[in-house]
Amino acid sequence: MLDWPASQTSVSLPLMIDDTASPHRTERADFQATRDPALMEGADRGQVNLLSYHDLYLLWERQQWQTQAIDFTKDREDWWGFPEEERFQRMYGLSSFFIGEQKVAEELGPIMRAAPTEEMKLFLCTQIADEARHVEFFNRFYQEVGVLDAGDLHGRLEETSEHLNPNFHTLFDDMLKSRVDRLAGEPEDLEVLVEAITLYHMVIEGMLALTGQHFIITYNEDNGTLPGFVEGFNNVARDEHRHVAFGARFLREMAATDQRYLDAIQRTLVECGPAADGVLAPPWYEEGQELFGVSMEETRAFAMKALERRMKVIGLAPVA
Ligand SMILES: [Fe+2]
Ligand SMILES: [Fe+2]
Repeated sequence: MLDWPASQTSVSLPLMIDDTASPHRTERADFQATRDPALMEGADRGQVNLLSYHDLYLLWERQQWQTQAIDFTKDREDWWGFPEEERFQRMYGLSSFFIGEQKVAEELGPIMRAAPTEEMKLFLCTQIADEARHVEFFNRFYQEVGVLDAGDLHGRLEETSEHLNPNFHTLFDDMLKSRVDRLAGEPEDLEVLVEAITLYHMVIEGMLALTGQHFIITYNEDNGTLPGFVEGFNNVARDEHRHVAFGARFLREMAATDQRYLDAIQRTLVECGPAADGVLAPPWYEEGQELFGVSMEETRAFAMKALERRMKVIGLAPVA
């Protein structure tokens, strides 16, 4: 289990910092341009000049890409050259992302409508387009590589879902969906919006997605495998950093407005902790097992470091 922020008033996070895990790709100018606190050393001191909502929108205009431009020819050769067990093990990460992208795309509409300013709404509209592109990226990868038997998007989502674990459903179908459903009926409830954005941008995108992306991309780059997938997944990761940067700005502003929003962030992190931790491990994971060359401790440390930096910038964790 993660040593998750417990019920104290300020979050005290473990110092499981592995600076050697700092990946080269996150030093790329286009990643740094998002100013996601997890990418900035200044975040350790709580110092990051987050972009405005409008600047985040303009960055989105400059950071476009096409799923149809990616060549999956070598990916297909690589995939069918992997031993059967490796293909099975890779399905956990692939399925969690494919279905995760589809679910977040679906849930973002009511969040966008509940955002209190036009600038926020405009950025969240761009994020809806991004999440649709991420779904299509996975759909194309599955189709071009021939990962499954199903012949369309709906069928692929259904067929790949057998690889998920129950915590995934708790996080997406219970915790996130219940808040989004409430927002759909009561878009003026800012406390629920704060909870939804904590879950969506900080936990699902910030901790889980970007951690999975980091290790999956690194493993494939180190092994020279799935080059088309790596190219597209890097673009997805850059988009996610931009989304998380929006979440960090929104939560920092809300936290500065009223203590009850700070409490809402804290409460949500505590509530989702066990399910979020559970999503990091596949259903077939055995204690102590390394997954694609990485231990569960290393995975957790990476996720917690990212959360810690963002929480410092939001004002919820003590700064160094
Ligand atoms: Fe996404
Ligand atoms: Fe996203």
